[in-house]
Amino acid sequence: MVKIYRSRNYREMSETAAGLFLAQIRKKPDSVLGLATGGTPVGLYQNLVQAYQRGEADFSRLSTLNLDEYQGLSGEDPHSYRYFINTQLFDHVNIEKTRTHVPDGTELHPEKACRDYDRLIARLGPVDLQLLGLGPNGHIAFNEPDDIFPSGTHCVTLDSSTIEANRRFFRSLGEVPKRAYTMGIGSIFSARQILLLVSGTGKAEILKQALSGPVTPRLPASILQFHPDVTLIADEDALSSLPR
Ligand code: GLP
Repeated sequence: MVKIYRSRNYREMSETAAGLFLAQIRKKPDSVLGLATGGTPVGLYQNLVQAYQRGEADFSRLSTLNLDEYQGLSGEDPHSYRYFINTQLFDHVNIEKTRTHVPDGTELHPEKACRDYDRLIARLGPVDLQLLGLGPNGHIAFNEPDDIFPSGTHCVTLDSSTIEANRRFFRSLGEVPKRAYTMGIGSIFSARQILLLVSGTGKAEILKQALSGPVTPRLPASILQFHPDVTLIADEDALSSLPR
């Protein structure tokens, strides 16, 4: 059963999501947070930074696990997800960087990169609150449409539609990495609570299918229908294909 918070717009969605994160941090200051990248959570992270600057949040005892990383990119590369999460959030709050984790994009042996990350998840987990965005093709993290739901961290070849969707962050299509390391559906599912953020009319149809269509690995986000504690915060545009 997915709980749905309807927001008027992106700003309200981001504020509501920040409220949930801040409540989690206050309730359990040593929470393990699962973090996501992409355009959707930028407003949420801005709200968290502002709450910190107002003295309303303490990040010093948290641990974090990011969902995914492009293969071949180091954390200094401005296109990497490590760089994104550092510059959007970690650089501006009192988090202990050694307790923040992103799959190692510079590890070119997929088996090692994935095994290391799964060990880390096993050591730190379960994640208390897992943030997710929704890919235009229904992916979560970088779990692309497939014949199965992959359980652990794995190396994926990105769909051409994902490469196309993410090219806006790069100078050219050719620069977008073709492969990535991503947490698996099993690991995402082991989170105690999941927060899915969705914004914009471009996601309305895929969101409707994910929430009310069949559960299938062809639409990875549909598996969220089976998780016991999922909250969706979405704006009116993203909810426009669903009945009120
Ligand atoms: C990327 C990320 C996902 C993210 C998705 C949606 O592919 N790997 O974790 O949810 O994009 O991104 P956006 O929020 O920019 O639409």
